[in-house]
Amino acid sequence: MSKMLKICKSWFICLSIIFLTTFYPYGKLYSDPLQESNPDHFIDSLLSIMTIEEKIGQLNMFHWPWSAQDDSFKTVYEKMIRDGKIGSFLGIYGVKNTKELQKIAVEESRLGIPLLFAFDVIHGWRTIFPVPLAEACSWDLETIEKTARAAAVEATSSGIHWTFAPMVDIARDPRWGRIVEGSGEDPFLGSMIAAARVKGFQGDKLDDENTLLACAKHFTAYGGVEGGRDYNTVDISDRTLFEVYLPPFHAAVKAGVATIMGAFNEIAGVPMHANEQLLTSVLRNQWGFNGLVVSDWTAIKELQSHGVAADPAAAGMLALRAGVDIDMVSGIYLTELPALVKAGKISEDLINQAARRVLKAKHALGLFNDPFKYHNIQREQNNILSAENLQLARDMARKSIVLLKNSANILPLKKNLKSIALIGGLATDQVSPLGAWAGIGDTHDVISILEGIRGAVSPKTKVSFQAAYDSNGFENYGEFQKASDLVKKCDAAIVVLGEPAQMSGEAASRADIGLPGDQTRLIRMLVKNNKPLVLILMNGRPLALDEVAEETSTILETWHLGVQMGNAVADVVFGDYNPSGKLTVTFPRTNGQIPVYYNHKNTGRPPDFSDHYTSKYIDIPWTPLYPFGYGLSYTTYSYNDLKCDRRSMIINDSLLISVQVTNNGPWEGEEIVQLYLQDEVASVTRPVKELKGFKRIHLKPAESQKVEFLITPDMLSFYDQRMMKTVEPGKFKVFIGGSSENTIEQTFELMQ
Ligand code: BGC
Repeated sequence: MSKMLKICKSWFICLSIIFLTTFYPYGKLYSDPLQESNPDHFIDSLLSIMTIEEKIGQLNMFHWPWSAQDDSFKTVYEKMIRDGKIGSFLGIYGVKNTKELQKIAVEESRLGIPLLFAFDVIHGWRTIFPVPLAEACSWDLETIEKTARAAAVEATSSGIHWTFAPMVDIARDPRWGRIVEGSGEDPFLGSMIAAARVKGFQGDKLDDENTLLACAKHFTAYGGVEGGRDYNTVDISDRTLFEVYLPPFHAAVKAGVATIMGAFNEIAGVPMHANEQLLTSVLRNQWGFNGLVVSDWTAIKELQSHGVAADPAAAGMLALRAGVDIDMVSGIYLTELPALVKAGKISEDLINQAARRVLKAKHALGLFNDPFKYHNIQREQNNILSAENLQLARDMARKSIVLLKNSANILPLKKNLKSIALIGGLATDQVSPLGAWAGIGDTHDVISILEGIRGAVSPKTKVSFQAAYDSNGFENYGEFQKASDLVKKCDAAIVVLGEPAQMSGEAASRADIGLPGDQTRLIRMLVKNNKPLVLILMNGRPLALDEVAEETSTILETWHLGVQMGNAVADVVFGDYNPSGKLTVTFPRTNGQIPVYYNHKNTGRPPDFSDHYTSKYIDIPWTPLYPFGYGLSYTTYSYNDLKCDRRSMIINDSLLISVQVTNNGPWEGEEIVQLYLQDEVASVTRPVKELKGFKRIHLKPAESQKVEFLITPDMLSFYDQRMMKTVEPGKFKVFIGGSSENTIEQTFELMQ
């Protein structure tokens, strides 16, 4: 090509860009046929007309400061939207508010690129469902998916496009307050639940008006913070990382999760927001994730406090290079990236790559087709707190309750008792049932335990209430004695103890996970009255209850159950629902036992009473108070006839295992049949057992059912010494039962 021609061509391109960048016709984006026929091409052509500043604007997420003293920020934000400097918001909601901003983006910014509105829709929007840890105890994937779906329908009706959920962090340390947001300690169950929640939020088609972009968080190993102290260092082996913490993220990716959020913590010296190895090599290259990665709140800025970035520019550079596409609120991408590109320290390709992912997410939601599809006032009025959602909330809440102890068969109580003493401030608390991260949950929607119980008993039953303790669990002056006197006078007592909502969740780690304040003293005093007494626990984490459990015959773990808490508790207490929940996290006896989890290693000196030099404590038993998978019912189930269809299987084949489960009591109920496996001898040590399957079955009194599980090689695989997935021949143990510690066993051999 002649020199002259080359110059003309460059001029032509420059002029076209100047023309398009100055006079881009409004609405062109929304009628571009490429959107449907070739989305990638559509996004590339959009990128080609964006300025570098506009691309960087797409990577910037700001928070809507509801609590600001005045409205002046609005003018600033609106101008930034017009200038294409904000790609997404978190925290703003409501059709009116979100539509107003969307209109500015679409009609007043140069290219009209729509905004994304994000929010932490963790366990419900306005209809608040049980906290995720509680929901997990139902082991009911279908209902869990339904609550996520319902939350998505409600939140999208309020203008929300994107939820920062599910939280899929495995947690083995109950001191960590955020244990409440996840599914507990098990990677297998955690993976199934992660996938169910992703499906629930994202629905069948992301471009439906009632689907949210889901976000698996916090990538990764955030649950492994040392000492259970939030935001603390994580220092774990690759094996633990790949076997325990990563599987639920991988499951979320396989389920098609659209976005991932980075974690605040470092792992072995590398903060997650600078961790290219995990964010790019593993997440994208190995697992094929092609969605969007968002930072956690100010986490890019925090790379400076971690001590891996000297200044904001270095922090921004590290995060973008590692694979973080959106900067949540630290503003570093917005302020630092333009200069870094100019200086040649960051390539424009890297910016394009991140901006492309943001635009793809917007396209996936159908926002380039109709940017206002999530702002429909009719939907907002009709969909929120519907009768159907309230029914679902009650169903999910009942299934989340775990009966820990009923040794005197006090439960269920009769509805026609003459008098019931209801003790404990949490029984009238309408805030705590909402739990941590309660969307736009409203305390007025909450049925308290007192209300639920009063609504369930016969008209003649007198329910008398005494708060006894304050919001921190300390005695209200003189009220313990009053509570005790009340218990003495009544036919039965229901005592509600535990943690208010603010004691779990983010930045709510506790060093002592016993009952707060004076509550242990209270229960000790009350049991002395020798009245039928039911202890109801309301909390967001396992509690260390050793003494309390010894002295109390009847304990019901009810967690923070959402808006229908009172009704759900009453359903179980009075036998309208037979409890079926099973713990998805181990309850230690005491703080000093933490971490304690079921899928531990055997060690070279497994605990043995008769041998002093074995792995145990000298002051307490090594076993937990309540193990993973544990939970009682008003009926009892027996497990018999555990059979493998063959004594051996060859690699690449499968094996059928069956067991006969029988309901031996007078109640019909649901049992969660659990399958665990152990590789007896392998080239690396394997856990004493690992959950590999479960089934929820319904049994009428005296009914018996054969339950089958198919064992496939994948269930027997693990990482070898080189961290390669492998299956090794040898003997395997199969355990099936109603809890990780109450099982019957068989063995089979895997042959080459
Ligand atoms: C939390 C995230 C949350 C974000 C936005 C952070 O402090 O760690 O889980 O999604 O805030 O609210």
